[in-house]
Amino acid sequence: MSESAASAETTMENLVALSKRRGFIFPSSEIYGGFNGFFDYGPLGSELKKNIRDCWWDDMVRRRDDIVGLESSIIMHPKVWEASGHVDGFTDPLVDCKESKVRYRADQLFFAPVVVEANTVGYVSALESERTTEELQEKAETMKRKKAVQGTLAPVEPKDFTEAREDEYALIPSPATGEPGSLTAPRSFNMMFQTNVGAMTDGSSVAYLRPETAQGMFVDFKNVVDTGRVELPFGIAQIGKSVRNEITPRNFIFRSREFEQMEMEYFIHEDADWEKEHKIWIQWCWDWLKSIGLPESHLSLFDHEKAKLAFYSRGTTDIMFKYPFGVQELWGIAARGNYDLTQHANASGKSHEIFDEATKKKFVPHVIEPAVGVDRIFLAILCAAYAEEEVTDDKGKTETRTVLRLSPRIAPVKVAVLPLLKNKEELTTRAKALYKKLQRRYAVFYDEAGAIGRRYRRQDEIGTPWCVTIDFDTIEKEGDTFTLRERDSMEQKRITEAELLTMLDEHVY
Ligand code: GAP
Repeated sequence: MSESAASAETTMENLVALSKRRGFIFPSSEIYGGFNGFFDYGPLGSELKKNIRDCWWDDMVRRRDDIVGLESSIIMHPKVWEASGHVDGFTDPLVDCKESKVRYRADQLFFAPVVVEANTVGYVSALESERTTEELQEKAETMKRKKAVQGTLAPVEPKDFTEAREDEYALIPSPATGEPGSLTAPRSFNMMFQTNVGAMTDGSSVAYLRPETAQGMFVDFKNVVDTGRVELPFGIAQIGKSVRNEITPRNFIFRSREFEQMEMEYFIHEDADWEKEHKIWIQWCWDWLKSIGLPESHLSLFDHEKAKLAFYSRGTTDIMFKYPFGVQELWGIAARGNYDLTQHANASGKSHEIFDEATKKKFVPHVIEPAVGVDRIFLAILCAAYAEEEVTDDKGKTETRTVLRLSPRIAPVKVAVLPLLKNKEELTTRAKALYKKLQRRYAVFYDEAGAIGRRYRRQDEIGTPWCVTIDFDTIEKEGDTFTLRERDSMEQKRITEAELLTMLDEHVY
């Protein structure tokens, strides 16, 4: 992807429209009106998603000697979530609007007193966005004008609803109605989905669907150590679905209720330099994002304030991505100490210590955890890859082409094989032979319908890096060469089958 990608035309509306039009992502249960916070990945989306997973798994697990894989169950013993702290602490602050019945996350609902000449004349509110402060300021100006208050309006000082005083709750307008008096005090809302296991539906059968894959690695730690021939430092990695009853799922697949995580727990010696290990993993994740085509210009780091960290955490750094709706967390890299293993050892009564030959001492390893969502990477990739550009065809006609500048590593289709004409058997036979050969190793697409220019455009829009056209030179001239058309530059050159295979081998790994 080029650095200039994600320009003005990369709006969420464009990305959602393209996703639907070309079969990347559909709203879940769409024929029944959709289901908020759930999405389905269509034919191209499931390919792209699989490529993200496969690249991560290959680089994180298969190509390393110190990391092994795991697939743990989605529903685990309920005691897992008590020991991990999720039953008591996996909550978001919730605010209800009694009038409209809309629910808000208190930390995403912002308000400000409207202050004129040191007097508070009312309150304004707005939901978190790139423009929260501007929106509040505009609303404050409107309020001053409507109330015909004389004097200078002070600049708004936004706070989120968790910071509101009790006496302010009734004064802050609900974003749904624009009127004060209907918002409740914030209360904790546990985001874990509950279910019942077995025939009984009483309290004894309550279980939870996992809100993160990470606990699987801690709970199976002993099993992996006993069977996996692993030695510190080593990691356990997992890819899988997690679910959270998010109060406000939003921004398409950025925050959904069912999503997929790729998490890795890297266990280190209790005396290891955890800050150094933490930095190594931040760099690894950064480089990996680049390797699948995310431009560095869209990435940044955010260090969580030490004072605001969870009590067990020693440090957390997020890799942030510049989405169209703002700079947001893509990948969290946390140094979690030995909190989780110790909790599970205490709760289960099974030791999670490792024997250190050097010091002849037993200890519970510490852990560094890079945790990322596949869907958030998917969205980041679409945002960075999407472009609309003016192009001029052979006849001098100018048109707008939509192109996804996807890295060949993750593009859902690597090569489109196109016979120049549909009704020339010698062309289609040669094209089909090449297609069948490539299909053994790569996701390829055969298309003989329509003008060649239109076929190129279709492939541009789904991010296919190369088109190979079988034309009369292929069959009439010596050398069995094809026209290779490159997506981003749109340049064309002659290439042999052997050269094509070498090129694919180099770029698709
Ligand atoms: N084990 C640590 C953990 O789960 P997290 O920050 O809650 O940490 C890790 O989640 C990553 O999972 C996030 O950085 C994000 O990429 C992804 N993620 C979390 N909640 C999500 C949601 N509701 N929708 C999509 N992705 C989500």
